[in-house]
Amino acid sequence: MSTFPDASGAGSVDDPNLDFAGTTPYEDYVRADVLTHLQHPRSDDPGEMVFLVTTQVMELWFTVIVHEWETAGRALREDRVPVAMDALKRSVRELEALNHSWRPLAHLTPAQFNSYRGALGEGSGFQSAMYRRMEFLLGEKSASMLVPHRGAPRVHAELEKALQEPSLYDEVLRLLARRGLPVPEAVLRRDPSLRYEPSPEVERVWAGIYADPDQNAELVRLGEALSDVAELVWRWRNDHLVATRRAMGSKTGTGGSAGVAWLEKRAQKNVFPELWTARSHV
Ligand code: HEM
Repeated sequence: MSTFPDASGAGSVDDPNLDFAGTTPYEDYVRADVLTHLQHPRSDDPGEMVFLVTTQVMELWFTVIVHEWETAGRALREDRVPVAMDALKRSVRELEALNHSWRPLAHLTPAQFNSYRGALGEGSGFQSAMYRRMEFLLGEKSASMLVPHRGAPRVHAELEKALQEPSLYDEVLRLLARRGLPVPEAVLRRDPSLRYEPSPEVERVWAGIYADPDQNAELVRLGEALSDVAELVWRWRNDHLVATRRAMGSKTGTGGSAGVAWLEKRAQKNVFPELWTARSHV
């Protein structure tokens, strides 16, 4: 049985330590004091706090997911498919957690959102650099998405690097080519800083892989992990779209876009397009 620590702070051997010379080892690792003092609401509305924290939580999940996809990309380049699969599967669970974090914002009324919308000024998730890195890793490259970050050298440099590097999907297609599958040279040698355009030959490659799952067990598993990622990114975009529609109808966005109409177009895009279209040919 543990006993309650005495006034000197020294408890029995079963109790956690209370005595640290400086900050706690937990604090040194987690930096909770920093993390929990980064919330500076700009209005008096009590609902703004959860809007701000949900956004920060999503930024943290974006950061973890970028880390996983970079790990997966590197592992694929080195032909370490199990390492890539582990990272992709972790990212699937993380995307599920990310998507669940819509709950507190999913049912805002226009009046509730209006209570602090003015305080956001021109701030918009559109300006999220970590979200852009996620999109770049998925193959959705766009040099113009660097423009908003010209004033932030570190962020800009990270985005520029991500723009120039092969995406996760580029690494997948290179792996398929190394496995002897007929991925066209033009796809393998494409300029990685440009948006990936779907290719009928790549669609045929995936259709062939899926048509013979016994022969291609590992690649089917890879294709399915990528499909899980694609589905969950699509779900994030659609949950965002519906939350936005509920909170502000068809008003223009704080970032200057047409709002819901603009988001609808973005949400229509398929991640890893051939993994979806190939299914019609299996
Ligand atoms: C209910 C609350 C929200 C509303 C009403 C809303 C509204 C919008 C609108 C209208 C846009 C289009 C750009 C613009 O003109 O601003 C946008 C973009 C975006 N928002 Fe939100 N948003 C909400 C919550 C969030 C949260 C919590 C995040 C998390 C980081 C987020 C991330 C993004 C991202 C990444 C984009 C760019 C999407 C793209 O480039 O395709 N939003 N949002």
